[in-house]
Amino acid sequence: MPNKFTPHFEATDSMADLVRADYNILPLLSRFSIPLGFGNDTIGEICSKNDIDADTFLLIANFTLSNGIDHSIVTPVAALGIVDFLHNSHDYFISYKFPHIRSNLLNALDANHSDINPAIIAYFDDYVNQVKLHFEYEETTVFPYIRRLLSGEKSDYKIDIFRKNHDEIGEKLSDLKNVILKYYTTSKPNLMYDVLVDIFNCEDDLDQHNDIENDILVPLIESFEKSDKK
Ligand SMILES: [Fe+2]
Ligand SMILES: [Fe+2]
Repeated sequence: MPNKFTPHFEATDSMADLVRADYNILPLLSRFSIPLGFGNDTIGEICSKNDIDADTFLLIANFTLSNGIDHSIVTPVAALGIVDFLHNSHDYFISYKFPHIRSNLLNALDANHSDINPAIIAYFDDYVNQVKLHFEYEETTVFPYIRRLLSGEKSDYKIDIFRKNHDEIGEKLSDLKNVILKYYTTSKPNLMYDVLVDIFNCEDDLDQHNDIENDILVPLIESFEKSDKK
């Protein structure tokens, strides 16, 4: 049965319309290294100008819009494109998003709370270290395995090992958010509200990252493993 989901974009649709449909598409553009200034070009035209597989881009963009997966375009090329996209997302969180939140959090802390401020920063740093370990396992074990599988190499690893052990990294950030929301009185509320919005966004972004790994990548690789055995 075909997957029905709306809105659904295709290669002949305008990139500007796609961004207008949901601003959560913007982080995708940066992770696919698509520059702004796309005028009236279509999604297909922009992908080909930037050497991006349009099917991979559409698979992730449509999933972002509606959680629907178009199974007709899950090819080995798309699988490699998804791995590259996930790798770029790891870079984005570690090199940009977490340092950005940390420095805004430091700015927003109130000097009157010198007793608990160090614990808040320590919690955040500990969280980032856990995410780094999570990403590191994917970068050093899971992604190299997928690249080997798709190039026809045999391996003892199976994507099921990843599926069983893959934890929800976004959830742990909600504890910090809840402590600040419920208990942190401050004389600099605007700065702290900005940090909270950033943490909410980051949590959503990490959840979506996890969903792409669990709902698109894992089933896709399982199907390649099965067809490999035939
Ligand atoms: Fe990841
Ligand atoms: Fe992950």
